[in-house]
Amino acid sequence: MTTSIENAAQVLTPPEPNLPYLRTDRAGELALNPGAVTTDDDGRIAALEPTESADIHVDATGCALVPGLVDCHTHLPFAGWRAQEYEQKVTGVPYEEIARAGGGIASSARALRETADDAVLQQATDLAAEMLAHGTTTFECKSGYGLSREGELRALKLAADLGIRVRQQTARTALLAHAVPEGYTAKTWMDEVEAMIPAAVDTGATALDIFVESIAFDVEDLDRLGGVAARAGVALRAHVEQFSTMRPISVALKHNARSLDHLSVIHPDDIAPLGASDTAAVLLPGAEFMGAEATAPARDLIDAGAIVVLATDANPGTSPVFSLPLIVGLAVRRYGLSSREALLAVTLNAAYVLNLAESLGSIEPGKRADLVLLDSPSEHMAYRLGHNPVAAVFIAGEPAYVRPDAAWRISPNR
Ligand code: NIG
Ligand code: FE
Repeated sequence: MTTSIENAAQVLTPPEPNLPYLRTDRAGELALNPGAVTTDDDGRIAALEPTESADIHVDATGCALVPGLVDCHTHLPFAGWRAQEYEQKVTGVPYEEIARAGGGIASSARALRETADDAVLQQATDLAAEMLAHGTTTFECKSGYGLSREGELRALKLAADLGIRVRQQTARTALLAHAVPEGYTAKTWMDEVEAMIPAAVDTGATALDIFVESIAFDVEDLDRLGGVAARAGVALRAHVEQFSTMRPISVALKHNARSLDHLSVIHPDDIAPLGASDTAAVLLPGAEFMGAEATAPARDLIDAGAIVVLATDANPGTSPVFSLPLIVGLAVRRYGLSSREALLAVTLNAAYVLNLAESLGSIEPGKRADLVLLDSPSEHMAYRLGHNPVAAVFIAGEPAYVRPDAAWRISPNR
């Protein structure tokens, strides 16, 4: 089936083809010109022009056409929610204190243990549908609420099952070092982590992740996981500098980490080396906003040359947020990003984090035709905070979501 999307007011295109990523200080080179896109029978972008003989025609008048949004940091699948903790948090109890009292990650671990596979998958599938309606065509899943060998491997298996159920393409990350399970120290749990890597990789996980924090794992554990990831041939990612400045950046760079996520309290001396590296800086303004956390120094990272990425960090604790347009709105305001910088951060650069930039993340011939039609110029995504601008979503060239008021735009060949 071929699709011709015609007469868009803006089509977001990269300055050159085949970029693995674009450093954010070059975001101004992204074009937002009027145009059209035709997809081929294999679900790829065939040309940046309309085609009279296409099977489906889309009238994109007044709309912006952007690449399918990529959410490279979520904690799906999980079980239940933690609304009561949010109330504690907003009334003044710190996250670390909630965690130490058995809440936080441990409470989601209990919920996951007590919930049947089908129910976990149903909740995650419903959330994936919500993400699709907000333009997300690719997302990452993490384990991390298993907190035992069996629990972590079950979470990874559930993530793989979720990937089969949903319309989106998914990638899986083994967050095996998320919290220290009862009965272990960080060091003895790292022994378990190392032992479960082959089984974790067998489930299709393509990255390892760790929470480097005063209440979790330290820089030495990160160093060890870096070696483990290299030997297993998977990417290293890490949650770092969210609450406490632990200075893990140089160790992570030594191991060529694919991304460092959060960075709200990164030490100023670590910004330049991170900016000069190929390690992406994944900023999570949803967690920062919901947790009243420090604000990551996004502009300094950009000025240092960093590959800046934005993601939801969707999880039942720190960021129960699944909308990338909302994340873009928060990021533009909190970090002072331009609209192009923010769009780059949820498309090509986010695809880079998942090692998928070769096949998606930008509008160029040959890439998978994952496309989002916005109901307004792309700058409105940040400006109309809370409005969902997504009129239609195409995955591999086929309509995967159409907002009812945009249905008139899509018609079979005339
Ligand atoms: O990315 N920081 C650690 N992990 C999650 C929080 C998980 C949770 O609270 O359930 C995060 O913010
Ligand atoms: Fe996270």
